[in-house]
Amino acid sequence: MSSDPIRDEIRALELSGIMKIAATALEDPEVIPLWFGESDLVTPEFVRRAAVRALEAGRTFYAHPRGIVPLREAIRRYLERLYGIAVHPDRIHVPGSTMLTVTVAGQCLLAPGREILLIGPYWPNIRNVARVCGAAVREVRLEEGPDRWWLDLDRVAAAIGPRTRAVYVNSPSNPTGWIASREELAALVALCRRHGLGLISDEVYHRHVLDDPGGVAPSVLPLVEEDEPVFVLNGFSKAWAMTGWRIGWMVAPRRLVEPLAVLAECDNTGATVFAQWGALAALEEPEGEAFVRDFVARCARNRDRVMAVLGAHPRVRLLRPEGAFYAFPRIEGLDDGLAFCRRVLAEARVGIAAGYGFGEGNAAHVRLCFAIAPERLETALARLLAVLEGEGSAPRRRR
Ligand SMILES: Cc1ncc(COP(=O)(O)O)c(C=O)c1O
Repeated sequence: MSSDPIRDEIRALELSGIMKIAATALEDPEVIPLWFGESDLVTPEFVRRAAVRALEAGRTFYAHPRGIVPLREAIRRYLERLYGIAVHPDRIHVPGSTMLTVTVAGQCLLAPGREILLIGPYWPNIRNVARVCGAAVREVRLEEGPDRWWLDLDRVAAAIGPRTRAVYVNSPSNPTGWIASREELAALVALCRRHGLGLISDEVYHRHVLDDPGGVAPSVLPLVEEDEPVFVLNGFSKAWAMTGWRIGWMVAPRRLVEPLAVLAECDNTGATVFAQWGALAALEEPEGEAFVRDFVARCARNRDRVMAVLGAHPRVRLLRPEGAFYAFPRIEGLDDGLAFCRRVLAEARVGIAAGYGFGEGNAAHVRLCFAIAPERLETALARLLAVLEGEGSAPRRRR
């Protein structure tokens, strides 16, 4: 046993390929940041006003660790509107950020000696949650078809071992933009049922269906019984441009209502109260849906530009993103993605993320977020192309 009382799993944690690049130039105004999953839109005013009103009304006290009742009620109504189903109030939790719901789901399912299957390419933080819980990770990568990503369920089934306890799926997907069909999700749910596995379905990009602004992606929620070991995760960051608010929700097995209240107490003792009043406005005010529709339409137009400009480059293989707001191109001949991203940052002043952190088989990929203003995106793409063209030539001066 190591003499250091700090757990090995904690000492081994490393910044992701996103943060390794971003941390070096976060405050640099010259850099066009495409590394994080957010747009340059400030949260809509009607949401900000609602939070300000809550502050002015003195809503500054502890609240229920599972979230304020009006917000949980609003989430229940929202889910009914979206999917036509009635979710029992005991299943809805607002412990803090969507990220925290990932952690909570991990805490429920993962422990040393257990293993989770990650459908990849996946968002790096889920791997870190598994590590922090002491669990092992096995990956099943989506298949790259001629024009879209797809899930081979047989490969998922073949990867299930004696220690497997859970599967993580994220659709619409960060980083690929893959959207699982209802049939794919139903088959995955059936597979988990057959093998007695928990399922974490991360649906934080549920409104980012690029070919249907205002629409919603298929969810596992209508497919599962209320006490199955399934955690459906969601949040406000992506659809309503609320990344800094740190607020999300989860729908969990009903039987866990009390344990999850205790976990929420341990983890954060609930989400920030005035932020919850803002989140309530995002769901309930009519401007909320209009914002989502316009924002997703903008992302769809940006996706088309990324396909036309970057996707057409001879060194780039890029499957058309169906959802979320990322492009995950493979760059021919790329063997050190981190070095390439550093070069893009230094020469082009554009921040992108290295693919290796998104799981096995992604070393030649990079990820860029295309949710920013179209003009800035055009500039970023032009600069990125210039680096691609210049690869192999002498380094250029900083612009
Ligand atoms: C797949 C996925 N899940 C969860 C999150 C966490 O979202 P939040 O910022 O709301 O905590 C992100 C953020 O990028 C994400 O991409």
